[in-house]
Amino acid sequence: MIKKIGIPKEVKKDEGRVALIPEHITQFTGIADIFVESQAGLGSGFSDEDYLSAGAKILDSAEELYKTSEIICKVKEPQDQEFDLLHSSHVLFGYLHLASNLSMTKKLLEKKLTGIATEMIMDGEEYPLLIPMSKIAGNLAIQKGMQFLEYSSNGKGLLLSSISGDRKSRVTVIGCGEVGRAAIHKSIKVGALVTAVDLNEQILDELKNKYGDDITTVIGETPEATNAIRNADLVVGAVLLPGRKPPIVISEEDINKMEQGTVVIDVAIDQGGCVENVKPNTHSDPFVIRDGVIVSAIANLPGAVPKTSSIELSTALQKYVDYLLVDDWFEKYKNDVNLSPSLQIHNGMLLSSEVGDSLSLPVTKLV
Ligand SMILES: NC(=O)c1ccc[n+]([C@@H]2O[C@H](COP(=O)([O-])OP(=O)(O)OC[C@H]3O[C@@H](n4cnc5c(N)ncnc54)[C@H](O)[C@@H]3O)[C@@H](O)[C@H]2O)c1
Repeated sequence: MIKKIGIPKEVKKDEGRVALIPEHITQFTGIADIFVESQAGLGSGFSDEDYLSAGAKILDSAEELYKTSEIICKVKEPQDQEFDLLHSSHVLFGYLHLASNLSMTKKLLEKKLTGIATEMIMDGEEYPLLIPMSKIAGNLAIQKGMQFLEYSSNGKGLLLSSISGDRKSRVTVIGCGEVGRAAIHKSIKVGALVTAVDLNEQILDELKNKYGDDITTVIGETPEATNAIRNADLVVGAVLLPGRKPPIVISEEDINKMEQGTVVIDVAIDQGGCVENVKPNTHSDPFVIRDGVIVSAIANLPGAVPKTSSIELSTALQKYVDYLLVDDWFEKYKNDVNLSPSLQIHNGMLLSSEVGDSLSLPVTKLV
């Protein structure tokens, strides 16, 4: 039977991304009906006409979209106004980050729908849906950090770039995975002194080999790491324990000990944050000042550049939509080692032990 895929317009604040771009929906002609909410692609530079030409049908409202579609293919987790539109026969397919949000997880369980957290889709050891957004977020962490260091933001009034050749400004990056490595690369390119902090020695060795004297590498959770955190001009927190809440790597005391105007960017906020007592910010209200330190935690950083992000996201996502289009998809999906970690909610049951541990909720193991 032909499945009905719905692509809603994102309603999270300042979110301009769309899950699938017109170029990537033509492949579903004849095997799925694609419904797109009017103006869903506008923030990313795609008009309703672009989607019509690619074979989609345009629906005028979110109500119609959710009523008509079986698979809801979206970018971010549902917002308050979207919960009423969701029902038990929906397959919700998007970044859900359940471990950071108890009330949303409970609401989705009550809906008895099927929730697939695309950030947990695996390809061997990798997370192919997280990687492109992480690379973008790592770049944006430095881009935003540079802006927040400006005098008008109450920052130190410091340019991260070196002007006379000497590297003078200090960037510390904690967690050197996809986000961290993108942030490190950009910082070194503009001419900052970079300290990379991770628990994984192999990652640190690779960074040292790549960047030589331009980087200092430090094992995490050591006095040296604390020192590097407290004495930086810009600190980026980018740790991840897949599917779980991240550890706190920047404490309240660290913030107290930083110089006035230092900037801290908590990229791990989508999973709950790695700065003690952090609260989520938005692109239009991007930071709070704590003890003179600028702390920014924007959970949808790539939403700032939707043209770039939607193309990258849709490119990575398109092949995984295919898995949902066969009649016996659920059996196949739950038994696939790469896909099953993303199948997190079904018929009122929480299926992810990482989310269950993080939120102290009971977990069901499907057989
Ligand atoms: N805010 C956003 O818009 C946005 C966008 C993309 C990703 N993210 C988040 O950024 C975080 C990093 O993502 P990623 O793709 O780079 O993950 P990753 O798995 O590639 O890297 C995480 C790194 O953290 C390290 N780590 C774990 N615990 C640590 C600790 N206690 N001290 C030091 N290092 C530690 C790991 O060794 C690993 O190298 C995740 O929380 C992810 O959800 C946020």
